[in-house]
Amino acid sequence: MKGRAVVLMGFMGTGKSEVGRRLAQRLGRSFVDTDHAIEERAGKRVAAIFADDGEAAFRRLEREAVADAASRGGVVIAVGGGAVLDPENVRRLRDSGVLVHLTARPEIIVRRVGDGGGRPLLRDDPRAAVTRLLAERGPAYAAVADVTIDTSERNAGQVVEEIQQALERSERWKSST
Ligand code: S3P
Repeated sequence: MKGRAVVLMGFMGTGKSEVGRRLAQRLGRSFVDTDHAIEERAGKRVAAIFADDGEAAFRRLEREAVADAASRGGVVIAVGGGAVLDPENVRRLRDSGVLVHLTARPEIIVRRVGDGGGRPLLRDDPRAAVTRLLAERGPAYAAVADVTIDTSERNAGQVVEEIQQALERSERWKSST
């Protein structure tokens, strides 16, 4: 399918995967979750890739998964929370579509990620890691976003609604559909 992609990016626990799946359904488009694509390719979970092969190996796989997803055109893509810290990923994602940044307040994220299970960067002390990483990454997310939506007080269905309304206002989106 052609046309612009919708790219959901932002911090862990902001609902990218769930919202992405629903948004794709609503728009009648395919959904690509890059973390899932990486797991399929590697034949193991993200946490196992970090543990066995290290973060650098994960980031290489992520770069491939992003390039793949971005080349498909017209899909909904959810990328892991670290993907847009890589300028090459940002370039590809920007070329392919509209970047939607999902955010949430730190205390909400801490609640959603629980004990950090499955998320290697949060494993040791989720609260401290969320606070530190959010402060480090927040400006980078904001800098590349076309649209930002705070998911703190919204369920996935409401976030999908917000995204659709934002897309309808976006010249970049309208010019491609
Ligand atoms: C990461 C976020 C995770 C996953 C990996 C690294 C990050 O994805 O890609 O654990 O660096 O923020 P989610 O944002 O979907 O949890």
